Amino acid sequence: KKFRLAVIPGDGIGKEVVREGLRVLDHLAEESNGRFAFESDFFPWGCEYYLENGSMMDENGVEKLKDYDAIYFGAVGFPGVPDHISLWGLRIAICQGLDQWANIRPVEFLPGIPRRLNHPDVDSLNWVLIRENSEGEYSGVGGRNFSGRGPGKEVAVQSSLFTEHGCERIIRYAFDLARTRKRKKVTSVTKSNAQQYGMVLWDEVFVRVSKDYPDVETDQWLVDAMAAQFVLHPEELEVVVASNLFADILSDLGSALSGSLGIAASANLNPEGRNPSMFESVHGSAPDIAGKGIANPIGTIGSASLMLDHLGLTDESKRLDTAIEDTTRQGVLTRDLGGTYSTVQITDAIIKNLSEV
Ligand code: NAI
Ligand code: MG
Repeated sequence: KKFRLAVIPGDGIGKEVVREGLRVLDHLAEESNGRFAFESDFFPWGCEYYLENGSMMDENGVEKLKDYDAIYFGAVGFPGVPDHISLWGLRIAICQGLDQWANIRPVEFLPGIPRRLNHPDVDSLNWVLIRENSEGEYSGVGGRNFSGRGPGKEVAVQSSLFTEHGCERIIRYAFDLARTRKRKKVTSVTKSNAQQYGMVLWDEVFVRVSKDYPDVETDQWLVDAMAAQFVLHPEELEVVVASNLFADILSDLGSALSGSLGIAASANLNPEGRNPSMFESVHGSAPDIAGKGIANPIGTIGSASLMLDHLGLTDESKRLDTAIEDTTRQGVLTRDLGGTYSTVQITDAIIKNLSEV
């Protein structure tokens, strides 16, 4: 079978790590002896494209992505283009345009890497953060520059938008996922003491939906306390579901606990399968290390593994995960993990380990 991929390397280290992810995918296709293949179309969208064309992507960009089997994404954002323009013009435009409403972000320890978390009872981190990816705090509702006010008196409004439908589908997704896991536990995160409309609606939907899953244990937390819980009692977590902004923040915390932002993978899913899903690392374009060849490609290669799984290539996905683990266990690490290996060398090691699993 031939899978058609839309590849959007984007900006900064996005380009460097997507190149490595594609090398891994090409290797897997090659050794499958024609069982499957990838055909990649490249879309040069991002900040350079913006500076030349005045927009982050083609006018009908989202439409052009619709017929692909999956989208493989680097990262967007670079100095010279305001971050809110680059993020909204590309990543959020695609996620919302293709209704990729479930963002899946696993948090796991990899062997052989120095952890930021030294918890006496915890020798493995293994939870998955489910991020609502279509509305909430990133609904884009609001505005600036209310008329009639003088200099220094501007007012800005940024509203969150929560729909019962939006809350229900992401919460159900979390419960369905929890059922497939060992512990069968879902933790919901809001701030419904201070955000008294949308987050209270979320809480109510959570309690209602939970009644359909009597076999799943539940827990509800406020986000500030959950930030501490991530650090103090990670063993209590299995499936964590939260709004767009809260899960965005918590996923950087989770990846840092497991070692580095550079190793965190993610999938933006359209679970109904009407549109392609998009696979990308959790980190951004990291302008501070771009062009140096030292970015950690594991987050993006791990996202390729999530993509393989999504495309039904489950064995290949598992083998790739094992090859990544073997690589870190061997101490082949980039600088963010205390090592000295380059982006390309990490990938070389992963590909070499693939031939042994
Ligand atoms: P960032 O995630 O790009 O970088 C944060 C820190 O982590 C930096 O010190 C960076 O060097 C380090 N880091 C990130 N990924 C790494 C990797 N693979 N290997 C080694 N070190 C790594 O976040 P930052 O600096 O806040 O944002 C930079 C740009 O990226 C901004 O324009 C922002 O808007 C954009 N961004 C885009 C995202 C996306 O496309 N999904 C997500 C987050 C930020
Ligand atoms: Mg983020």
